[in-house]
Amino acid sequence: MSKVKPAPLPPDTVIGGYRVVRRLSAGGFGVVYLSLDMEGQQVAVKEYLPSSLATRAPGELLPKVPPEKLSLYRLGLKSFFEEGRSLAQISHPSVVSVLNFFRENETVYMVMNYLEGATLQDFIITARDLKTQKVFRESTIRSLFDEVLRGLRIVHQHKMLHLDIKPANIFITDDNKAVLIDFGAAREVLSKEGNFIRPMYTPGFAAPEMYRRDASMGPWTDIYAIGACIYACMQGYPPNEAPQRLEKDRLSLALSRLRGVYSDNLIEVVEWCMALDPLSRPQSVFALQKELSREGERRYTKLTVGEKVRLQFDTLVSDTKKKTGREATDMGAKPK
Ligand SMILES: Nc1ncnc2c1ncn2[C@@H]1O[C@H](COP(=O)(O)OP(=O)(O)O)[C@@H](O)[C@H]1O
Ligand SMILES: [Mg+2]
Repeated sequence: MSKVKPAPLPPDTVIGGYRVVRRLSAGGFGVVYLSLDMEGQQVAVKEYLPSSLATRAPGELLPKVPPEKLSLYRLGLKSFFEEGRSLAQISHPSVVSVLNFFRENETVYMVMNYLEGATLQDFIITARDLKTQKVFRESTIRSLFDEVLRGLRIVHQHKMLHLDIKPANIFITDDNKAVLIDFGAAREVLSKEGNFIRPMYTPGFAAPEMYRRDASMGPWTDIYAIGACIYACMQGYPPNEAPQRLEKDRLSLALSRLRGVYSDNLIEVVEWCMALDPLSRPQSVFALQKELSREGERRYTKLTVGEKVRLQFDTLVSDTKKKTGREATDMGAKPK
């Protein structure tokens, strides 16, 4: 892996008729720029530029790819292009709109509508730091994920999977709309080639089948991640990673702490989505939507005294283990 990130395009560079204003973000797979189209409209342009395969000196346009990495670079490029093509067919307020994509500078650019706001991850961190009893209100969680699921349903209808749903890839616009961003097809191919660019899964949000290369993934894989996102909205932290859960599952315990704060139904929905066995999860977004919209039946069951005592004991045991480094707990993992 190269340590130096490739340099972003400098402001005022014109690519495919779009003028770069500034860099919005630089991840492992590319750079996102705020740019202006010919009419002066703001757009977000995502440039394929995997930092482990390509370098670029400041002020240069073309990425440099060492010969031994060229085939992998091209494979990722093709996949990034495909991702753009598939996304361009989807038009839904909860899925980022791809307006254009084109090749230039020996790489690919995807032009999206520019979203103003912040990611759900930013909101969770802010809310968590305020240390209120609830990270988000239940009604907020329900309406937020109702929107996300409407978008995801369309994505699945187009025979696509997102495979990297997490709070950092859910954008909340200033007018309070939830939008799915960052469709990870490129990531998929790049890591399948056995050449680890970065884990294709995000700890805590990736379903167990994503760790098993041969296992079949489906809508239920994205649904696991949705459950993990709802969990993060309730707890302020991501859940334990799937491999850790396979060894010792503390999900129910962690969720039981939220009884009385969130309805039994919402807690059950999270447990259902995050079942370790893919077949035990909602098999379609539709099935999950139906359950999440059952507002009328909300019950808030408080813990009994006996349960509280047991919970305190379990917490004590897990905190002791944490201190001695024997076992990481779900509450310890902070989002990156
Ligand atoms: N359409 C967009 N409008 C505004 N900002 C965006 C848009 N797409 C991406 N971004 C910003 O760039 C960041 C990274 O984009 P993303 O697509 O998640 O790529 P990656 O995580 O692979 O780097 C996002 O968290 C967001 O801040
Ligand atoms: Mg992202």
